[in-house]
Amino acid sequence: MWDPVAYQTYGDLRGRPFHELLARVPVEAPRRVVDVGCGPGTLTATLRERWPGAELEAFDSSSEMVEAARAAGLAAEVVDAREWVPRPDTDVVISNATLQWIPEHRDLLRRWVTALPAGAWSAMQVPGNFDAPSHVLTRQLAASDEWRSRLGPGLLRGAETVSDPVEYAELLADAGCAVDAWETTYVHALEGPDAVLRWITGTALRPIRAALGDDDWEAFRGELGERLAEAYPRRSDGTTWLPFRRVFAVARTP
Ligand SMILES: C[S@@+](CC[C@H](N)C(=O)[O-])C[C@H]1O[C@@H](n2cnc3c(N)ncnc32)[C@H](O)[C@@H]1O
Repeated sequence: MWDPVAYQTYGDLRGRPFHELLARVPVEAPRRVVDVGCGPGTLTATLRERWPGAELEAFDSSSEMVEAARAAGLAAEVVDAREWVPRPDTDVVISNATLQWIPEHRDLLRRWVTALPAGAWSAMQVPGNFDAPSHVLTRQLAASDEWRSRLGPGLLRGAETVSDPVEYAELLADAGCAVDAWETTYVHALEGPDAVLRWITGTALRPIRAALGDDDWEAFRGELGERLAEAYPRRSDGTTWLPFRRVFAVARTP
């Protein structure tokens, strides 16, 4: 289950990579633009402003997210990206902060760019922070004697979840595309107490939330919050710096 409201906390900071990704897609009049994993649709809606003449296709595997996207005025559909096939007039495929949830996404990327028409664009962004203290501390707590039996193995993924920019560049170039890949580490200035805990609650902690009852969830969050506060100290002015690495790859089909 996704909670569109929790996810959209820090919407401004989460939106920036989407705009920086799109800035590297210099197509003027695409026929069809697809947002894979559109989430609550807030960012998808900006695609309409960028390409008003394009057919906008948006989908997500979460019915809660699709409901929120529809409430925002988009004709979004519940579709699993693993089942999706680009239509012949698809000139742009975007997936922002989505493919990290799909272990086989490297195969999907290869399949999509092979199926797209000539001169089409594929643009993706994934978080590259699975080895950051926020995620390492969460995995360590989940694997501790106290929590292992309640959470089970394999709930949280490690650095293998996503690739480095060069690996995506290789994969897409091998499929015949011209590639523009890069990474950026944003230093987010988060305000208020337990800022990093709140940041990861709507995303990385979702599998933990889904596995625990309410009391256990509160206990897990409490313990994790203490560890995160040590790893990400809060400044005297109330700000907590959260370095957040993201990986981008834009490809153009031959
Ligand atoms: C972090 S949100 C990003 C949403 C949106 N792209 C944005 O940037 O705001 C990740 C989204 O990926 C969706 N997702 C995860 N696995 C998916 C799959 N197999 N097919 C389609 N969407 C998926 C989730 O439901 C969620 O809405």
